[in-house]
Amino acid sequence: MERFFNILCKEIQKIEGSIVLIMDEHLAALYGNLWEDFIRHSGLPFVTLILPPGEGTKSRKTKEKIENELLKRGVGRDGCLIAFGGGVITDLVGFVAATYKRGMEYIAIPTTLIGMVDAAIGGKTAINTAFGKNTIGAFHLPRKIFIEEKFLDTLPLKERKGGFSEIVKYGLIWDKELFLELQKPTFVLSEIILRSKKIKEEIVGKDFQERGLRRILNFGHTIGHAIEASSRYKISHGAAVWFGLLVESTISNYLGYLKREFLGEIFNLLQSSMLSQKFSWNCKEKNLYEVMENDKKGKNSLPRFVLIDQIGRCASFDEEYCTIVKKEIVEEAIEFVVQRL
Ligand SMILES: NC(=O)c1ccc[n+]([C@@H]2O[C@H](COP(=O)([O-])OP(=O)(O)OC[C@H]3O[C@@H](n4cnc5c(N)ncnc54)[C@H](O)[C@@H]3O)[C@@H](O)[C@H]2O)c1
Repeated sequence: MERFFNILCKEIQKIEGSIVLIMDEHLAALYGNLWEDFIRHSGLPFVTLILPPGEGTKSRKTKEKIENELLKRGVGRDGCLIAFGGGVITDLVGFVAATYKRGMEYIAIPTTLIGMVDAAIGGKTAINTAFGKNTIGAFHLPRKIFIEEKFLDTLPLKERKGGFSEIVKYGLIWDKELFLELQKPTFVLSEIILRSKKIKEEIVGKDFQERGLRRILNFGHTIGHAIEASSRYKISHGAAVWFGLLVESTISNYLGYLKREFLGEIFNLLQSSMLSQKFSWNCKEKNLYEVMENDKKGKNSLPRFVLIDQIGRCASFDEEYCTIVKKEIVEEAIEFVVQRL
């Protein structure tokens, strides 16, 4: 940890304005003392804001609350926000930074596996509304991302498994070798984190504003986001994406893109991560397809899906990288997955 705080210190010494550290209550309980020591020793002018944990915090209400605090304390555009936490904190703080006084800098310090391999990378920031996940947001890259694996030591197992879903996603959409590596019980997590981060950066580097290719990062997420929203965020992002990957791989097979044998391999790997036993939510009761109508990839209110045609490759659909799928097919695929859990 000492090395991490030394590097961070060097970075924030360059900042002229106020430094605002934002984290949730869980992280404050775990790392508050460490931060207090760091702030004392750094001698820099810090403001600390602590928010309630959970997806509900990614809201307009909390965004406004943070903005009012910053305005009250006279924070200027020359300041910098530090987002210390999981995807909820980095998405929210990144979005505050994107619009506060027409844009200021932020540093992302992800503390969850999802944050390290996905949420903190690529500059997508957002909040949720009653109309769905991430419905209001901006593209705004952090000034710096610091990945310190040591923070994972305190991360509950359930949250680690959620991160695994996003890593499997990279294997499915981009990197077959990664998918094969994940099948080995001996894989080295630090290498996998680095590799995942590089894949995301490579894809985002080719299409920052998601005009085409970047959509492939949404594989598993059309279903996943609908499940999160319908469950009122009782189902975590990672678990919802885990289910979404199974359903969207099944759709890829139903529509003739993905061979059956590959579908079997995907089920084996995802089911080995043991999220399945906990996934007791009844998808049939909810009209998921209607929830998906607000999905950002949608066209004329019809949800569009990213599909894979091999492990490690997405179908191009004339470089749109997503396509409309009939409601019956989607529902059949959901039923197929539910029967196998
Ligand atoms: N912007 C993007 O590109 C992108 C990509 C993927 C996911 N996301 C978003 O990320 C969010 C999900 O992120 P998440 O899974 O990190 O959830 P999260 O931020 O809610 O964190 C999960 C839980 O773990 C706790 N926690 C975090 N770090 C901890 C640590 N080191 N030790 C102990 N507890 C810790 C948090 O307090 C929280 O209770 C969703 O809102 C999703 O939409 C965004």
